[in-house]
Amino acid sequence: MTPSVLFVCLGNICRSPLAEAAFRHEAERAGLDVHADSAGTAAYHVGKPPDRRAVATAAYHGVDIGHYRARQIEPADYSRFTHIFALDEDNFANIRHRAPSDATAEIALLLDLVPGREGQAVADPYYGDAAGFQTTWRDVSEAARHLVVKLS
Ligand code: 4NP
Repeated sequence: MTPSVLFVCLGNICRSPLAEAAFRHEAERAGLDVHADSAGTAAYHVGKPPDRRAVATAAYHGVDIGHYRARQIEPADYSRFTHIFALDEDNFANIRHRAPSDATAEIALLLDLVPGREGQAVADPYYGDAAGFQTTWRDVSEAARHLVVKLS
């Protein structure tokens, strides 16, 4: 079965679109067939493209995310995806709290994939400067590489 992975942050305009992009990128490099998407726990930015600093960061690393559009996680996601990864602890708790009784997806914190970084959050770069987005990219790429190995 093709793995299908949903990445979830708060707004779905900074961290989770970058996690989705990095995972697609790493999976493609490894020749692994995957389904990937991202969503937010909040609805503030539904329908909007990613933050332009996120678009620029992904483009710098060779991935176009300008066509991504923010959406909120919904009950069907819990059975449509095989894995749901939260970008931080608040979103992890929120996702688990909202899980419907028929949820089948494995739900985990993204950085739990990275040895030595278990329990850590991918820091929210929204209120910071552009450099924060490079840190986000580094974190989500590292997790994506481990995820591709785990799923291969
Ligand atoms: P994200 O970042 O959860 O990584 O997409 C944020 C985006 C928007 C807001 C907070 C975090 N906001 O408060 O609008």
